[in-house]
Amino acid sequence: SASPDAKWLGTPISELWRMPECGHILPHLKSSSTHTVMIRTDLLRESGVPVPYPTKYKDSWDDSNVKMPCSDKNLYPVENEDGNSMLQSRWDLIQNALQNRFSSSLDLMDAILRYSASHCKKWDFTALHLLCTEDLDDAEVRHLFESLLPDMVNLAIRLPKLCTQPIPLLKAKMNHSITMSQEQISCLLANAFFCTFPRRSSRKSEYSNYPEINFNRLFEGSATKKREKLKTLICYFRRITEKKPTGLVTFTRQSLSSFPKWESSKTLLTRLHITSEGTIEDQGYGMLQVDFANRFVGGGVTGSGLVQEEIRFIINPELIVSRLFTEALEQNECLIITGVERFSNYKGYAESYRWSGSYNDDTLRDNWQRRCTEIVAIDALKFRRFLEQFTPEKIRRELNKAYCGFARPSEKSKKLPAVATGNWGCGAFGGDTRLKALLQIMAAAEAGRDVAYFTFNDTQLMKDVHEMHTFLTQRKVTIGIIAQLLDQYCNNVCRNCHTLKPDVSLYAFIYDSLDSYSASTDSEEDMAKP
Ligand code: AR6
Repeated sequence: SASPDAKWLGTPISELWRMPECGHILPHLKSSSTHTVMIRTDLLRESGVPVPYPTKYKDSWDDSNVKMPCSDKNLYPVENEDGNSMLQSRWDLIQNALQNRFSSSLDLMDAILRYSASHCKKWDFTALHLLCTEDLDDAEVRHLFESLLPDMVNLAIRLPKLCTQPIPLLKAKMNHSITMSQEQISCLLANAFFCTFPRRSSRKSEYSNYPEINFNRLFEGSATKKREKLKTLICYFRRITEKKPTGLVTFTRQSLSSFPKWESSKTLLTRLHITSEGTIEDQGYGMLQVDFANRFVGGGVTGSGLVQEEIRFIINPELIVSRLFTEALEQNECLIITGVERFSNYKGYAESYRWSGSYNDDTLRDNWQRRCTEIVAIDALKFRRFLEQFTPEKIRRELNKAYCGFARPSEKSKKLPAVATGNWGCGAFGGDTRLKALLQIMAAAEAGRDVAYFTFNDTQLMKDVHEMHTFLTQRKVTIGIIAQLLDQYCNNVCRNCHTLKPDVSLYAFIYDSLDSYSASTDSEEDMAKP
């Protein structure tokens, strides 16, 4: 029925559910043993900047919370006149160093290195220097040093006034949420920009299983990518220092302990909209948007990475703060981020990425003053050999990971927004798009959601996945049957394969198996038995 140059297939996207229309009334926002709320909920209003809670800074220098730059336990050694070593407040040093006026990128570098002495030799600020000398014009440079950086310093040093409550670490196996204001996030990110977070700049520390948070690697090297990333982040800092954002953002670590029994599931597929045009972030507004994540959330965002996840993290920079407290994700875990705002436009991708100006996000807010943007970080497996991904253990792992991202066990509402996704795990991580599309469609069905799939210009993929989805839906093939067929494909085709890629494609195998099956019997019960 589709014309040969169709741009989309399946269910029209307008029929899929989005927030806020499909949402239910949120319960009153309050903190609990599984939810840390960093603001005064009683004073939360539609406009107006949320008030931090508690009023007075409370420090917690321990294994359960983020060690703060402004903690009085954050000390550094100095030698006194007698040659003895004594400890001084690192926060005092940071404030002194940053409150000197900078007139060039060299001054900024010197300031950062004053409180990062042990990294002096390693840290390199070439990207920052090049940005100032080659990319920005005189007026922009003047604005940066005379206005923006001083504003960012003022924001960073308000830390003990803004982030008054200890921020819990979202450790492996925890189910816990943190809700904080966009202003608090901006203060934490200003600190990350100036590289003030203690114990976070050496790989061997107690935070080795956490992503990097300090921005030092962003300043390093001469690559255009780094400079474009800096421009994107500078746009964010300019926007939030010019006008304080007023919303909240929730970060939830979800660690599931029970998963569907895939092989025996009687669930049928849900609806699919598939398109070769558009992106998750543009056309997937109001849906559950997938971040093609690294187990260290944000992946290479503070380093040199610049693919789907890193791009999302720099155009919606509030996502970056998740790196401060989210331990590496385990197999049964995901991170859900609700309420982040988009600040930048971009063109291109990876090497060709370019910042292309400020973006005005008009996404509606929910009752908790969060933008109705829900993003889920799920990390696919990285495959070196193509055939690996078809083994039953890997398939189960990817199904469970996607299910963890899509399912909301505590959500009573039957109307969950559709999943907006695409070639998850199929770029940097080398997965097969046709397999991954099918696995995500299965996981979404088990979680009770429809799917909007963006093939990122691949029209053949759009047609193939749509054809498979239509075939499986029309024949009422259950998830259990599909799971069994995936198993058989591994046993019958992949195990005996001595070439790099199997000679029978997965989809051809599925069509063939179901066709020869229906030719021999009409009983669904026996389907897919050997
Ligand atoms: N919307 C829809 N599809 C997209 C978009 C978009 N905005 N951007 C890219 N694609 P990749 P992975 C498609 O390589 O393989 C990061 O470093 C496009 O076809 O980002 O899961 C993470 O931190 C692209 O090839 O995801 C991880 O370390 C494909 O999605 C690692 O990469 C896959 O995008 C994850 O790699």
